[in-house]
Amino acid sequence: MPLMRPNVVEPAVDNQMQRRAPDGRQQAETAGRMDERAHITIRGLSKTFGEATVYDRFDLDIPRGRFVTVFGPNGCGKSTLINMIAGLVPIDAGEILFDGKTLAQTKIGYVFQNYRDALFPWMSAFANIEYPLKLMNVAPAERRRRVEKLVDHLGVKIDLKRYPYELSGGQQQLVSIMRALVVDPEVLFLDEPFSALDYEMTLFMREQVQRIFNETRTTMVLVSHDLEEAVFLADYMLLLTRRPARIADYRLIEIARPRGDDTLSDAAFVAHKAHCLEIFQREVRRA
Ligand SMILES: Nc1ncnc2c1ncn2[C@@H]1O[C@H](COP(=O)(O)OP(=O)(O)OP(=O)(O)O)[C@@H](O)[C@H]1O
Ligand SMILES: [Mg+2]
Repeated sequence: MPLMRPNVVEPAVDNQMQRRAPDGRQQAETAGRMDERAHITIRGLSKTFGEATVYDRFDLDIPRGRFVTVFGPNGCGKSTLINMIAGLVPIDAGEILFDGKTLAQTKIGYVFQNYRDALFPWMSAFANIEYPLKLMNVAPAERRRRVEKLVDHLGVKIDLKRYPYELSGGQQQLVSIMRALVVDPEVLFLDEPFSALDYEMTLFMREQVQRIFNETRTTMVLVSHDLEEAVFLADYMLLLTRRPARIADYRLIEIARPRGDDTLSDAAFVAHKAHCLEIFQREVRRA
């Protein structure tokens, strides 16, 4: 795991924000870069849908082995950002590299918001999880070994012989996450993975995802529309402005893990949340 230099990162971002030009361009060019070792580097990223410019020469570094959450106003481009990084949406201009490599040279995992559509209903949980290995022509015995190892490693207690309709929403989403992890991805993307779950299941899943992160230390990028969740899970929280999206803040959330229910009332947590809410409201009002 890379060493973090907490005293450097946050003040550096703040200083850059103070130095930024009035049009915000300077911020976009500098605030997304950090002193930690970058895993994903995004430079000069531009994307337009019809008349809507979603990104205009956008720069961002995502550090290795860190949990980055993405938060911002509706329609600002959160999903588009992770979809472009994951290669699901083409970019108009710019460059996205993974440790200097292209996406084609990198293994990634992606967890969709809607687990109901994402899992194959005619396959057992086990068959769903091993499916990517099948696509990679991994032999059946090896596929079984790898799925079992993953399940053991994560300590997941689900009967994998069951079919998706026999599982709760949270269990189905856990199966989706395991399917994404079974290929040992270098990066895991999650787009609002809990938004279709009820609150109790959401709290449970936050803990599960945090545990998976602690176990695997896979670089994770998670989009959330829930401020509390975005702060709770983050090593770094990326706050985006309205379109064209710029970086409103890229904030180190220095709270020890594992984080649990008591974290929600922890003074540092509450302060981060208040700060992020203030920035968010400022950005939303700037219509
Ligand atoms: N395939 C597409 N065709 C046309 N416009 C699109 C397409 N995908 C996204 N957009 C537009 O780009 C902008 C950003 O969309 P995106 O889905 O990335 O936002 P988001 O921040 O994830 O929003 P939400 O909070 O609603 O999930 C929106 O204005 C959206 O309407
Ligand atoms: Mg979205």
